[in-house]
Amino acid sequence: MGDDSVRIDPWSSNQSTDYGRIIDQFGLSSLNGLDLPNATKLHRRGIVFAHRDLDVILGAHQRKESFGVLTGLMPSGRMHLGHSMVIEQVRYYQEMGADVTIAVADLESQATRGVSLAKGRQIAREDYVANYASLGLLSDSTEVYFQSQRPAVQRLGFQLGKRTNLNEFESIYGFGGETNLAHVQAPMVQVGDILHPQLDEYGGLRPIVVPVGVDQDPHLRLTRGLAGKTNWFNVGPGKRSGAQIRLSVQDENAEALGQAPNGRVDRARRQSVFDGIVSNLEGMGFSDIMSNPKEGMVNVPSATSQDIHRIRMQMLAYERSLGGQGLLAPSSTYHHFAVGLTGDKMSSSQPKTTIFLDDEIASVEKKIKRAFSGGQPTIEEHRRIGGNPDIDVAYQYMMYFFEDDDAYLQEINQQYRSGSLLAGEMKQLCIDRATAWLSNHQEMKDQTAHLVDEFFAADLS
Ligand code: TRP
Repeated sequence: MGDDSVRIDPWSSNQSTDYGRIIDQFGLSSLNGLDLPNATKLHRRGIVFAHRDLDVILGAHQRKESFGVLTGLMPSGRMHLGHSMVIEQVRYYQEMGADVTIAVADLESQATRGVSLAKGRQIAREDYVANYASLGLLSDSTEVYFQSQRPAVQRLGFQLGKRTNLNEFESIYGFGGETNLAHVQAPMVQVGDILHPQLDEYGGLRPIVVPVGVDQDPHLRLTRGLAGKTNWFNVGPGKRSGAQIRLSVQDENAEALGQAPNGRVDRARRQSVFDGIVSNLEGMGFSDIMSNPKEGMVNVPSATSQDIHRIRMQMLAYERSLGGQGLLAPSSTYHHFAVGLTGDKMSSSQPKTTIFLDDEIASVEKKIKRAFSGGQPTIEEHRRIGGNPDIDVAYQYMMYFFEDDDAYLQEINQQYRSGSLLAGEMKQLCIDRATAWLSNHQEMKDQTAHLVDEFFAADLS
Protein backbone atom coordinates (compact mmCIF):
# COMPACT_ATOMS: atom_id res chain seq x y z
CA MET A 1 0.00 0.00 0.00
CA GLY A 2 1.20 3.51 -0.77
CA ASP A 3 1.71 6.15 1.91
CA ASP A 4 -1.52 7.94 1.24
CA SER A 5 -3.77 4.93 1.75
CA VAL A 6 -6.16 4.80 4.68
CA ARG A 7 -6.27 1.78 6.93
CA ILE A 8 -9.39 1.13 8.94
CA ASP A 9 -8.69 -0.52 12.25
CA PRO A 10 -11.88 -1.78 13.86
CA TRP A 11 -10.26 -2.01 17.30
CA SER A 12 -8.73 1.44 17.41
CA SER A 13 -10.51 4.43 18.88
CA ASN A 14 -8.54 6.57 16.49
CA GLN A 15 -10.53 6.40 13.27
CA SER A 16 -9.88 8.14 10.00
CA THR A 17 -12.56 10.69 9.19
CA ASP A 18 -11.43 11.12 5.63
CA TYR A 19 -14.71 9.72 4.39
CA GLY A 20 -14.25 10.69 0.76
CA ARG A 21 -11.05 8.73 0.57
CA ILE A 22 -12.56 5.79 2.42
CA ILE A 23 -15.33 5.64 -0.20
CA ASP A 24 -12.81 5.65 -3.04
CA GLN A 25 -10.27 3.33 -1.59
CA PHE A 26 -12.64 0.64 -0.41
CA GLY A 27 -15.12 0.88 -3.25
CA LEU A 28 -18.12 1.94 -1.19
CA SER A 29 -21.06 3.54 -2.97
CA SER A 30 -22.31 6.94 -1.99
CA LEU A 31 -25.82 7.08 -0.59
CA ASN A 32 -26.61 10.15 -2.67
CA GLY A 33 -27.97 8.32 -5.69
CA LEU A 34 -30.44 6.18 -3.77
CA ASP A 35 -34.03 7.00 -3.08
CA LEU A 36 -34.87 5.85 0.44
CA PRO A 37 -38.55 5.80 1.35
CA ASN A 38 -39.20 7.79 4.56
CA ALA A 39 -35.51 8.22 5.24
CA THR A 40 -34.44 8.86 8.83
CA LYS A 41 -32.69 12.06 9.81
CA LEU A 42 -29.39 10.18 9.69
CA HIS A 43 -29.97 9.32 6.04
CA ARG A 44 -31.38 12.72 5.10
CA ARG A 45 -28.42 14.53 6.60
CA GLY A 46 -25.68 12.46 5.02
CA ILE A 47 -24.66 10.97 8.38
CA VAL A 48 -25.27 7.55 6.91
CA PHE A 49 -23.05 8.32 3.95
CA ALA A 50 -22.15 5.13 2.10
CA HIS A 51 -23.27 1.60 1.40
CA ARG A 52 -22.63 -1.67 -0.36
CA ASP A 53 -25.55 -3.21 -2.26
CA LEU A 54 -28.23 -1.29 -0.40
CA ASP A 55 -30.14 -1.29 -3.70
CA VAL A 56 -30.63 -5.04 -3.18
CA ILE A 57 -32.49 -4.30 0.06
CA LEU A 58 -34.55 -1.51 -1.47
CA GLY A 59 -35.43 -3.81 -4.38
CA ALA A 60 -36.56 -6.56 -2.02
CA HIS A 61 -38.67 -4.03 -0.13
CA GLN A 62 -40.20 -2.75 -3.35
CA ARG A 63 -41.08 -6.25 -4.55
CA LYS A 64 -42.42 -7.08 -1.08
CA GLU A 65 -39.87 -9.85 -0.63
CA SER A 66 -38.50 -10.59 2.78
CA PHE A 67 -35.20 -9.17 3.99
CA GLY A 68 -33.45 -8.88 7.32
CA VAL A 69 -31.26 -6.48 9.24
CA LEU A 70 -28.41 -7.56 11.45
CA THR A 71 -26.08 -5.61 13.62
CA GLY A 72 -23.96 -6.24 16.68
CA LEU A 73 -23.06 -4.62 19.93
CA MET A 74 -19.87 -4.84 21.88
CA PRO A 75 -20.84 -5.29 25.53
CA SER A 76 -18.10 -3.33 27.22
CA GLY A 77 -18.72 0.29 28.23
CA ARG A 78 -22.08 1.93 28.92
CA MET A 79 -24.40 2.66 26.03
CA HIS A 80 -24.06 6.22 24.79
CA LEU A 81 -25.61 8.36 22.08
CA GLY A 82 -23.17 7.12 19.45
CA HIS A 83 -24.49 3.60 19.93
CA SER A 84 -28.07 4.73 19.47
CA MET A 85 -27.43 5.67 15.83
CA VAL A 86 -27.36 2.06 14.73
CA ILE A 87 -30.62 1.38 16.53
CA GLU A 88 -32.32 4.28 14.79
CA GLN A 89 -31.37 2.62 11.52
CA VAL A 90 -32.40 -0.85 12.66
CA ARG A 91 -35.80 0.55 13.60
CA TYR A 92 -36.06 2.07 10.16
CA TYR A 93 -35.62 -1.30 8.48
CA GLN A 94 -37.90 -2.94 11.03
CA GLU A 95 -40.63 -0.50 10.04
CA MET A 96 -40.01 -1.41 6.40
CA GLY A 97 -40.76 -5.01 7.32
CA ALA A 98 -37.32 -6.46 8.02
CA ASP A 99 -36.76 -9.07 10.68
CA VAL A 100 -34.05 -8.00 13.13
CA THR A 101 -31.09 -9.98 14.46
CA ILE A 102 -28.68 -8.45 16.96
CA ALA A 103 -25.41 -10.10 17.93
CA VAL A 104 -24.04 -9.49 21.37
CA ALA A 105 -20.32 -9.75 20.70
CA ASP A 106 -19.56 -11.30 24.07
CA LEU A 107 -16.77 -13.49 22.68
CA GLU A 108 -15.15 -10.53 20.99
CA SER A 109 -15.53 -8.35 24.07
CA GLN A 110 -13.95 -11.00 26.25
CA ALA A 111 -11.11 -11.59 23.81
CA THR A 112 -10.29 -7.99 22.96
CA ARG A 113 -11.47 -6.02 26.01
CA GLY A 114 -11.19 -8.51 28.84
CA VAL A 115 -14.91 -8.45 29.72
CA SER A 116 -16.10 -11.78 31.14
CA LEU A 117 -19.00 -13.53 29.43
CA ALA A 118 -21.14 -13.10 32.53
CA LYS A 119 -20.38 -9.39 32.70
CA GLY A 120 -20.99 -9.03 28.96
CA ARG A 121 -24.35 -10.66 29.34
CA GLN A 122 -25.29 -8.36 32.17
CA ILE A 123 -24.24 -5.22 30.27
CA ALA A 124 -26.17 -6.31 27.19
CA ARG A 125 -29.32 -7.00 29.13
CA GLU A 126 -29.43 -4.22 31.66
CA ASP A 127 -27.99 -1.44 29.57
CA TYR A 128 -28.09 -1.98 25.81
CA VAL A 129 -31.23 -4.00 25.25
CA ALA A 130 -33.13 -2.06 27.91
CA ASN A 131 -32.28 1.06 25.90
CA TYR A 132 -33.25 -0.58 22.61
CA ALA A 133 -36.69 -1.27 24.01
CA SER A 134 -37.12 2.32 25.08
CA LEU A 135 -35.80 3.58 21.74
CA GLY A 136 -38.82 1.91 20.19
CA LEU A 137 -37.37 -1.28 18.80
CA LEU A 138 -40.12 -3.89 18.73
CA SER A 139 -39.44 -7.23 20.33
CA ASP A 140 -41.74 -9.39 18.21
CA SER A 141 -39.55 -9.25 15.11
CA THR A 142 -36.23 -8.92 16.98
CA GLU A 143 -33.84 -11.60 18.19
CA VAL A 144 -30.88 -10.68 20.34
CA TYR A 145 -28.39 -13.51 20.78
CA PHE A 146 -24.95 -14.04 22.26
CA GLN A 147 -22.01 -15.15 20.14
CA SER A 148 -20.99 -17.57 22.86
CA GLN A 149 -24.43 -19.21 22.83
CA ARG A 150 -24.98 -19.81 19.16
CA PRO A 151 -23.05 -22.79 17.77
CA ALA A 152 -24.29 -22.12 14.23
CA VAL A 153 -22.48 -18.78 14.27
CA GLN A 154 -19.23 -20.25 15.51
CA ARG A 155 -19.49 -23.19 13.12
CA LEU A 156 -20.01 -20.95 10.11
CA GLY A 157 -17.08 -18.76 11.15
CA PHE A 158 -14.87 -21.79 11.59
CA GLN A 159 -15.89 -23.37 8.29
CA LEU A 160 -15.32 -20.19 6.31
CA GLY A 161 -11.84 -19.93 7.77
CA LYS A 162 -10.93 -22.40 5.10
CA ARG A 163 -11.51 -19.73 2.47
CA THR A 164 -9.05 -17.17 3.77
CA ASN A 165 -5.50 -17.01 5.08
CA LEU A 166 -3.07 -14.86 7.03
CA ASN A 167 -2.06 -12.91 3.95
CA GLU A 168 -5.59 -11.73 3.53
CA PHE A 169 -5.79 -10.81 7.20
CA GLU A 170 -2.55 -8.92 6.85
CA SER A 171 -3.87 -6.93 3.95
CA ILE A 172 -7.30 -6.23 5.45
CA TYR A 173 -6.33 -5.62 9.07
CA GLY A 174 -2.59 -5.05 8.98
CA PHE A 175 -1.93 -8.09 11.15
CA GLY A 176 1.56 -9.45 11.54
CA GLY A 177 3.43 -12.13 13.42
CA GLU A 178 2.83 -10.48 16.79
CA THR A 179 -0.96 -10.30 16.38
CA ASN A 180 -2.88 -12.03 19.11
CA LEU A 181 -5.01 -14.82 17.68
CA ALA A 182 -8.09 -13.43 19.39
CA HIS A 183 -7.92 -10.72 16.74
CA VAL A 184 -7.94 -13.39 14.06
CA GLN A 185 -10.79 -15.33 15.61
CA ALA A 186 -13.04 -12.38 16.41
CA PRO A 187 -13.55 -11.37 12.75
CA MET A 188 -14.31 -14.98 11.84
CA VAL A 189 -17.02 -15.09 14.50
CA GLN A 190 -18.34 -11.83 13.11
CA VAL A 191 -18.45 -13.40 9.66
CA GLY A 192 -20.63 -16.08 11.26
CA ASP A 193 -22.79 -13.39 12.88
CA ILE A 194 -23.37 -11.64 9.59
CA LEU A 195 -24.12 -14.68 7.45
CA HIS A 196 -26.01 -16.98 9.80
CA PRO A 197 -29.45 -15.35 9.45
CA GLN A 198 -29.47 -16.85 5.94
CA LEU A 199 -29.26 -20.37 7.28
CA ASP A 200 -32.52 -22.26 6.97
CA GLU A 201 -33.01 -22.47 10.74
CA TYR A 202 -32.55 -18.69 11.09
CA GLY A 203 -34.90 -17.47 8.41
CA GLY A 204 -33.38 -18.83 5.21
CA LEU A 205 -32.03 -17.22 2.07
CA ARG A 206 -32.84 -13.50 1.91
CA PRO A 207 -30.91 -10.24 1.67
CA ILE A 208 -29.48 -9.00 4.95
CA VAL A 209 -28.40 -5.41 5.55
CA VAL A 210 -25.80 -4.58 8.18
CA PRO A 211 -25.79 -0.95 9.36
CA VAL A 212 -22.50 -0.12 11.06
CA GLY A 213 -19.96 2.59 11.71
CA VAL A 214 -17.38 2.75 8.97
CA ASP A 215 -14.79 1.18 11.29
CA GLN A 216 -16.56 -2.15 10.75
CA ASP A 217 -16.14 -2.20 6.98
CA PRO A 218 -13.08 -4.47 7.06
CA HIS A 219 -15.30 -7.18 8.53
CA LEU A 220 -17.84 -6.66 5.78
CA ARG A 221 -15.22 -6.81 3.08
CA LEU A 222 -14.00 -10.06 4.56
CA THR A 223 -17.51 -11.49 4.87
CA ARG A 224 -18.56 -10.55 1.36
CA GLY A 225 -15.42 -12.06 -0.08
CA LEU A 226 -15.86 -15.29 1.83
CA ALA A 227 -19.52 -15.66 0.93
CA GLY A 228 -18.69 -15.13 -2.74
CA LYS A 229 -15.95 -17.76 -2.65
CA THR A 230 -18.40 -20.43 -1.51
CA ASN A 231 -20.86 -19.81 -4.35
CA TRP A 232 -21.29 -22.63 -6.84
CA PHE A 233 -22.65 -20.33 -9.52
CA ASN A 234 -21.15 -16.90 -10.12
CA VAL A 235 -23.77 -14.58 -11.51
CA GLY A 236 -22.80 -11.29 -13.12
CA PRO A 237 -23.21 -9.12 -16.18
CA GLY A 238 -22.57 -10.82 -19.52
CA LYS A 239 -19.69 -9.80 -21.74
CA ARG A 240 -21.69 -7.52 -23.99
CA SER A 241 -25.07 -7.51 -22.31
CA GLY A 242 -27.44 -9.58 -20.25
CA ALA A 243 -26.42 -11.93 -17.48
CA GLN A 244 -23.84 -14.64 -17.27
CA ILE A 245 -23.74 -17.62 -14.94
CA ARG A 246 -20.40 -19.34 -14.45
CA LEU A 247 -19.83 -22.62 -12.69
CA SER A 248 -17.36 -22.45 -9.81
CA VAL A 249 -15.99 -25.94 -9.27
CA GLN A 250 -14.39 -26.41 -5.85
CA ASP A 251 -13.33 -29.34 -3.66
CA GLU A 252 -16.67 -29.20 -1.86
CA ASN A 253 -18.90 -29.32 -4.91
CA ALA A 254 -16.82 -31.08 -7.58
CA GLU A 255 -18.74 -34.31 -7.32
CA ALA A 256 -22.15 -32.64 -7.31
CA LEU A 257 -21.15 -30.56 -10.34
CA GLY A 258 -19.93 -33.60 -12.24
CA GLN A 259 -16.17 -33.42 -11.87
CA ALA A 260 -14.26 -36.49 -10.71
CA PRO A 261 -11.15 -36.18 -8.50
CA ASN A 262 -8.98 -37.01 -11.51
CA GLY A 263 -10.44 -33.98 -13.29
CA ARG A 264 -12.58 -35.99 -15.64
CA VAL A 265 -16.04 -34.58 -16.30
CA ASP A 266 -19.08 -36.73 -15.77
CA ARG A 267 -21.04 -35.51 -18.79
CA ALA A 268 -24.44 -36.75 -17.70
CA ARG A 269 -24.09 -35.21 -14.25
CA ARG A 270 -22.84 -31.90 -15.66
CA GLN A 271 -25.70 -31.86 -18.16
CA SER A 272 -28.27 -32.39 -15.46
CA VAL A 273 -26.82 -29.47 -13.44
CA PHE A 274 -27.15 -27.29 -16.52
CA ASP A 275 -30.64 -28.56 -17.23
CA GLY A 276 -31.44 -27.45 -13.72
CA ILE A 277 -30.03 -23.97 -14.37
CA VAL A 278 -32.04 -23.69 -17.56
CA SER A 279 -35.28 -24.82 -15.99
CA ASN A 280 -34.76 -22.35 -13.13
CA LEU A 281 -34.29 -19.56 -15.65
CA GLU A 282 -37.30 -20.66 -17.66
CA GLY A 283 -39.30 -20.63 -14.47
CA MET A 284 -38.30 -16.98 -14.07
CA GLY A 285 -39.68 -16.24 -17.53
CA PHE A 286 -36.52 -16.12 -19.63
CA SER A 287 -36.58 -17.75 -23.04
CA ASP A 288 -33.26 -16.67 -24.61
CA ILE A 289 -31.06 -19.00 -22.60
CA MET A 290 -27.70 -20.05 -24.01
CA SER A 291 -26.47 -23.03 -22.06
CA ASN A 292 -22.89 -24.12 -22.60
CA PRO A 293 -21.98 -26.95 -20.23
CA LYS A 294 -18.62 -27.47 -21.89
CA GLU A 295 -17.49 -23.96 -21.04
CA GLY A 296 -19.24 -24.11 -17.68
CA MET A 297 -21.35 -21.11 -18.59
CA VAL A 298 -24.91 -19.98 -19.25
CA ASN A 299 -25.80 -16.66 -20.89
CA VAL A 300 -29.08 -14.80 -20.75
CA PRO A 301 -28.69 -11.93 -23.22
CA SER A 302 -32.00 -10.25 -22.46
CA ALA A 303 -31.48 -10.03 -18.69
CA THR A 304 -31.42 -6.48 -17.30
CA SER A 305 -29.24 -5.32 -14.43
CA GLN A 306 -32.25 -5.71 -12.14
CA ASP A 307 -32.63 -9.28 -13.34
CA ILE A 308 -29.06 -10.09 -12.37
CA HIS A 309 -29.92 -9.89 -8.70
CA ARG A 310 -33.02 -12.04 -9.17
CA ILE A 311 -31.01 -14.62 -11.08
CA ARG A 312 -28.36 -14.58 -8.35
CA MET A 313 -30.97 -15.33 -5.70
CA GLN A 314 -32.45 -18.08 -7.84
CA MET A 315 -29.04 -19.68 -8.34
CA LEU A 316 -28.31 -19.53 -4.60
CA ALA A 317 -31.57 -21.37 -3.95
CA TYR A 318 -30.65 -23.89 -6.63
CA GLU A 319 -27.21 -24.33 -5.06
CA ARG A 320 -28.91 -25.08 -1.77
CA SER A 321 -31.09 -27.70 -3.41
CA LEU A 322 -27.91 -29.40 -4.65
CA GLY A 323 -26.35 -29.38 -1.18
CA GLY A 324 -24.42 -26.08 -1.15
CA GLN A 325 -24.64 -23.27 1.40
CA GLY A 326 -26.05 -20.70 -1.00
CA LEU A 327 -24.78 -17.62 0.82
CA LEU A 328 -25.57 -14.12 -0.43
CA ALA A 329 -23.01 -11.38 0.26
CA PRO A 330 -24.50 -9.01 2.87
CA SER A 331 -25.51 -5.44 2.10
CA SER A 332 -24.19 -2.76 4.42
CA THR A 333 -24.41 0.92 5.25
CA TYR A 334 -21.90 3.15 6.99
CA HIS A 335 -22.40 6.13 9.24
CA HIS A 336 -20.11 8.95 10.27
CA PHE A 337 -19.11 9.11 13.89
CA ALA A 338 -20.43 12.00 15.91
CA VAL A 339 -17.65 14.12 17.33
CA GLY A 340 -16.99 13.88 21.07
CA LEU A 341 -18.33 16.68 23.28
CA THR A 342 -14.82 17.90 23.88
CA GLY A 343 -14.08 18.10 20.17
CA ASP A 344 -12.02 14.89 20.34
CA LYS A 345 -13.24 11.37 19.60
CA MET A 346 -16.32 10.11 21.39
CA SER A 347 -15.38 7.24 23.67
CA SER A 348 -17.14 5.42 26.50
CA SER A 349 -13.88 5.23 28.41
CA GLN A 350 -13.86 9.06 28.53
CA PRO A 351 -17.22 10.08 29.98
CA LYS A 352 -16.67 13.77 29.25
CA THR A 353 -16.65 13.07 25.51
CA THR A 354 -20.17 11.70 25.33
CA ILE A 355 -23.65 11.48 26.80
CA PHE A 356 -24.69 8.14 28.20
CA LEU A 357 -28.31 7.17 27.85
CA ASP A 358 -28.62 6.90 31.63
CA ASP A 359 -26.78 10.15 32.43
CA GLU A 360 -28.43 12.46 34.96
CA ILE A 361 -29.96 15.50 33.31
CA ALA A 362 -27.88 17.84 35.50
CA SER A 363 -24.65 16.24 34.38
CA VAL A 364 -25.73 16.41 30.74
CA GLU A 365 -26.35 20.10 31.13
CA LYS A 366 -22.85 20.53 32.50
CA LYS A 367 -21.29 18.48 29.74
CA ILE A 368 -23.00 20.48 27.00
CA LYS A 369 -22.07 23.79 28.64
CA ARG A 370 -18.43 22.74 28.48
CA ALA A 371 -18.69 21.33 24.97
CA PHE A 372 -16.38 22.44 22.21
CA SER A 373 -17.80 25.49 20.50
CA GLY A 374 -17.66 26.84 16.98
CA GLY A 375 -18.33 30.36 18.20
CA GLN A 376 -15.97 33.33 18.35
CA PRO A 377 -14.02 34.28 21.50
CA THR A 378 -16.06 37.43 22.14
CA ILE A 379 -19.70 38.31 21.50
CA GLU A 380 -18.66 41.30 19.46
CA GLU A 381 -16.54 39.14 17.18
CA HIS A 382 -19.24 36.50 16.95
CA ARG A 383 -21.82 39.05 15.83
CA ARG A 384 -19.36 40.35 13.26
CA ILE A 385 -17.90 37.12 11.73
CA GLY A 386 -20.42 34.53 12.82
CA GLY A 387 -19.89 31.03 14.18
CA ASN A 388 -19.11 27.74 12.52
CA PRO A 389 -21.81 25.10 13.04
CA ASP A 390 -19.70 22.45 11.28
CA ILE A 391 -17.41 22.24 14.30
CA ASP A 392 -19.86 23.38 16.95
CA VAL A 393 -20.62 20.35 19.08
CA ALA A 394 -23.94 21.64 20.42
CA TYR A 395 -25.16 22.13 16.87
CA GLN A 396 -23.74 18.78 15.77
CA TYR A 397 -25.60 16.98 18.56
CA MET A 398 -28.87 18.58 17.54
CA MET A 399 -28.23 17.38 14.02
CA TYR A 400 -27.14 13.85 14.93
CA PHE A 401 -29.41 13.11 17.86
CA PHE A 402 -31.98 15.55 19.13
CA GLU A 403 -33.60 17.61 16.37
CA ASP A 404 -35.86 15.95 13.85
CA ASP A 405 -37.02 19.05 12.03
CA ASP A 406 -34.75 19.76 9.04
CA ALA A 407 -36.15 23.22 8.42
CA TYR A 408 -35.56 24.32 11.99
CA LEU A 409 -32.04 22.93 11.91
CA GLN A 410 -31.35 24.85 8.73
CA GLU A 411 -32.64 27.99 10.35
CA ILE A 412 -30.37 27.84 13.39
CA ASN A 413 -27.48 26.85 11.16
CA GLN A 414 -27.91 30.06 9.19
CA GLN A 415 -28.46 32.18 12.28
CA TYR A 416 -25.29 30.80 13.78
CA ARG A 417 -23.25 31.41 10.68
CA SER A 418 -24.53 34.94 10.37
CA GLY A 419 -23.73 35.70 13.99
CA SER A 420 -27.28 36.40 15.13
CA LEU A 421 -27.33 33.23 17.23
CA LEU A 422 -24.62 33.18 19.89
CA ALA A 423 -22.60 30.16 21.01
CA GLY A 424 -24.18 30.21 24.47
CA GLU A 425 -27.61 30.36 22.90
CA MET A 426 -26.81 27.40 20.67
CA LYS A 427 -25.73 25.45 23.75
CA GLN A 428 -28.94 26.36 25.53
CA LEU A 429 -31.01 25.15 22.57
CA CYS A 430 -29.09 21.91 22.66
CA ILE A 431 -29.54 21.56 26.41
CA ASP A 432 -33.29 22.07 26.06
CA ARG A 433 -33.57 19.47 23.31
CA ALA A 434 -31.23 17.03 25.03
CA THR A 435 -33.13 17.35 28.28
CA ALA A 436 -36.46 16.68 26.62
CA TRP A 437 -35.03 13.77 24.64
CA LEU A 438 -33.32 12.14 27.60
CA SER A 439 -36.17 12.56 30.05
CA ASN A 440 -38.52 11.05 27.54
CA HIS A 441 -36.06 8.24 26.92
CA GLN A 442 -35.63 7.50 30.59
CA GLU A 443 -39.34 7.57 31.20
CA MET A 444 -39.91 5.18 28.29
CA LYS A 445 -37.22 2.96 29.73
CA ASP A 446 -39.27 2.42 32.86
CA GLN A 447 -42.34 1.73 30.80
CA THR A 448 -40.62 -0.80 28.55
CA ALA A 449 -38.51 -2.52 31.22
CA HIS A 450 -40.92 -5.45 31.37
CA LEU A 451 -40.37 -6.12 27.64
CA VAL A 452 -36.61 -6.59 27.76
CA ASP A 453 -36.68 -10.37 28.18
CA GLU A 454 -38.74 -10.76 25.04
CA PHE A 455 -35.90 -9.52 22.87
CA PHE A 456 -33.65 -12.45 23.62
CA ALA A 457 -33.45 -15.52 21.45
CA ALA A 458 -34.60 -18.81 22.83
CA ASP A 459 -31.16 -20.40 22.45
CA LEU A 460 -29.94 -18.59 25.54
CA SER A 461 -28.85 -21.07 28.17
N1 TRP B 1 -17.30 -5.82 16.15
C1 TRP B 1 -18.45 -5.02 16.48
C2 TRP B 1 -18.01 -3.85 17.38
O1 TRP B 1 -16.87 -3.72 17.69
C3 TRP B 1 -19.52 -5.84 17.15
C4 TRP B 1 -20.10 -6.86 16.24
C5 TRP B 1 -20.00 -8.21 16.39
C6 TRP B 1 -20.89 -6.65 15.06
N2 TRP B 1 -20.68 -8.85 15.42
C7 TRP B 1 -21.22 -7.94 14.59
C8 TRP B 1 -21.30 -5.53 14.37
C9 TRP B 1 -21.96 -8.10 13.42
C10 TRP B 1 -22.06 -5.69 13.22
C11 TRP B 1 -22.37 -6.98 12.75
O2 TRP B 1 -18.83 -3.03 17.75
